[in-house]
Amino acid sequence: MKFKPFENKIWLASPKMHGDEQKYVKEAFDANWVSTVGENLNQFEVGICKYIGVKNAVALVSGTAALHLAIKLADVKQGDKVFCSDMTFVATVNPVIYEKAEPIFIDSEYETWNMNPKALKKAFEKFPDVSVVVVANLYGVPAKLDEIKAICDKYGAILIEDAAESLGATLNGQQTGSFGAYNVVSFNGNKIITTSGGGVLLTNDNEAANYARKLSTQAREPAPWYQHEYVGYNYRMSNILAGIGRGQLLYLDEHINRKKTIYNRYKNAFEDLPVVMNPFLDSMKPNYWLSCFLIDESCTTTPEDICITLEKCNVEARPIWKPMHMQPVYANCDFISLDGKDVGKDIFTRGLCLPSDINMTEKQQERIIKIISACFE
Ligand SMILES: Cc1ncc(COP(=O)(O)O)c(C=O)c1O
Repeated sequence: MKFKPFENKIWLASPKMHGDEQKYVKEAFDANWVSTVGENLNQFEVGICKYIGVKNAVALVSGTAALHLAIKLADVKQGDKVFCSDMTFVATVNPVIYEKAEPIFIDSEYETWNMNPKALKKAFEKFPDVSVVVVANLYGVPAKLDEIKAICDKYGAILIEDAAESLGATLNGQQTGSFGAYNVVSFNGNKIITTSGGGVLLTNDNEAANYARKLSTQAREPAPWYQHEYVGYNYRMSNILAGIGRGQLLYLDEHINRKKTIYNRYKNAFEDLPVVMNPFLDSMKPNYWLSCFLIDESCTTTPEDICITLEKCNVEARPIWKPMHMQPVYANCDFISLDGKDVGKDIFTRGLCLPSDINMTEKQQERIIKIISACFE
């Protein structure tokens, strides 16, 4: 091997703690509010609402739990068809199956790598009665949410925005996580800010938020005994984890700036390589969660070659999310694309997620850039 391995592993995206998190966690310990109520939860939810510009936030154990509740709030029932982003992490789609409904996958477009509004339109022409759309904003880049929302409105469909990866990203100045009727952010350990594990459901609908809160705490009725009229879940975030989130929220903008610097360093360094960075529109401000690139069709270097080379150097890179229509578990589901093309498969085949860890130093990134550039020699 031409390059020496790094002494410590360089991660794709690892958490960065600042100290304030511990202060809020300690406060919860000191007050003995360590369960699923307390000031950290209240303040974390208020902080998220303010940042994103929505009325209600319900903090939960994971983004997946938040997506599940979003699907419940949208009243998805057994046998219903639901239009979903095709190229995404499987958690976007699994809650549709939890409710015994049927996902139909909508292909991606090249300008943001997210759901193609034209393919969504085609899907509605084929299935005009579909009433729920789940769209993901991948790698911190908003989908064409304005166009997608307009199509949903035309067909009277509810939009669920999976903003798990895009906290802090905007489209036309509006925060992602605020375009849908129900929206979801993840605070999993690799996300732009973390609560170790966690998520939040966001909505402007007060009644829906109250219902989600109730569902997340086993749907207990207000009675002196344990009274239940429908099935609930144990999905509520703890006040301890909310303390981590409360501290992390103070550093969200800083994290975004660091991620942006990493993205721009790659972009400048790879200008002469046969690659393009994950793109976005002028109307968008991504949160740059992961820097990715797409290798030119004519190039013989593959994402796998680069991944293996980096791995030997103790550096983590990852493939692009494998599209859902290519997943054995979803092999029987419908897939809507345009002109017989398969954009998701193409991006998956030629794309790569680069190390985007905000704990990575500039020097370390420069070494990684050299290693990657050598793969193209
Ligand atoms: C696009 C997307 N949706 C949903 C999730 C699920 O979030 P969580 O891991 O918090 O359940 C994730 C991340 O893990 C994600 O990347």
